[in-house]
Order: sequence, then structure tokens, then C-alpha cells
Amino acid sequence: MADVVLISGSPRANGNTEYLLNVCKEAIESAGLTAKVLTLRGTPIQSCIACGQCGKLGRCALNDGLNDMLPDIREADGFIVGAPVYFGTARGDVMNLLQRVGMVSRANGGWMSGKVGGPVVVARRGGQTATLQEMLMMYFICGMTVPGSTYWNIAFGQAPGTVAEDEEGIATMRTFAENVASLIQKIRG
Ligand SMILES: Cc1cc2nc3c(=O)[nH]c(=O)nc-3n(C[C@H](O)[C@H](O)[C@H](O)COP(=O)(O)O)c2cc1C
Repeated sequence: MADVVLISGSPRANGNTEYLLNVCKEAIESAGLTAKVLTLRGTPIQSCIACGQCGKLGRCALNDGLNDMLPDIREADGFIVGAPVYFGTARGDVMNLLQRVGMVSRANGGWMSGKVGGPVVVARRGGQTATLQEMLMMYFICGMTVPGSTYWNIAFGQAPGTVAEDEEGIATMRTFAENVASLIQKIRG
């Protein structure tokens, strides 16, 4: 269990999404909180099937790996999700994850409410802001608090690891993560 859970929605090993989340993780740990990066790599996440079972089960009826992540997500005060942009929107599995976590939470007392975090997005050239907005819909309907940064949480990179060259993108993520940590600390009092 960690104070902040970060989930990479990229299928690529050592990809740009993972790189950005590790920047966030370091910033959170430097602020004195614990952080854990999880990945969807190798874990295809299905779309919600609207079975309505989550209210009875306390978890998702689909057993594709999402349920294994739920205890970490539920225990954490922070929730950061990273996505690569695919055709101008978030990779499908990322939205599947957000929608199913949201459904399980809302059907069981709304336990995502009050958590702090937000989306982090990377693309080669375009679609980052639309993707950020798409992902934010789940954060806000679930009652979470999203701090800002010095820019929107977007970065540029194509080949795995090349996002490291986007200095402003990296700085934006670092400040965002510092703000997540400081807000959690303020809420805890
Ligand atoms: C199916 C697919 C669709 C993509 N669509 C876009 C796009 O719409 N805009 C863009 O700038 N980059 C697009 N890309 C490039 C990725 O967003 C980019 O390589 C990103 O850094 C991948 O992140 P990752 O290394 O974490 O997987 C696409 C890549 C793939 C595989």
C-alpha cells in the first residue's frame, strides 16, 4: 500500500508514460510520501459491461486484473493515471480502467471521493489536451481534487524514453506531483 498510486496505461516497456509517472513518483517521495507505480502492460482491461454487480460484490465482476489493483487504489490518498494518446484520445484500456474504478467506487459509497490526483498525458504531436479533458471527466464525477501545475499535464515524445527531452513537460509533471503531495499533506493536517 502507498500514499499515492500511479497507473501507467501504456503497453510499452520503459515507455514515455512510465517515464513521466516515475518523475511524479520521485517528486512525491521527495515530499515525504510513499508512491507505487502500477502498469496495464500485459493486463488488457475490458470495458464496463454494465452488469451492475459491483454494488453487490464490492469489486468488479470482470476478473481481468483490475480487481488486483483495487486495494492499492482504495487505500491510497492519491491517484494519478498516465495515458499515451491514441488517435487523439486516451488509449482504450485507460478509459476502461477509469470507468470501471469509478463504477466500483460509486456503487460502494463513493470511496474515490476526496482523493487527490489527476491525469498525465503524452503524445508524439497532438491530442494531449483533448485526452486530458477526457480523463478528467472521471476524476470530477468521482469527487476527486485535481491540483494544477505550471502548464497542463502534457508532454511530447514518440519512441520510448524520448519524452525525457521535453524539459518543460518533465518540469510540469514534477510540479504537478509536488502539488498532489502537498495537498494530501494539507488535507491530512
Ligand atoms: C495506435 C497509436 C495511435 C497514436 N495516436 C497518436 C495521436 O493521435 N497523436 C500523437 O501525437 N501521437 C499518437 N501516437 C504516438 C504515441 O502517443 C506516442 O508514441 C507516445 O509517446 C506513446 O507513449 P508510451 O511510450 O508510453 O507508450 C499513437 C501511437 C499509437 C501506437
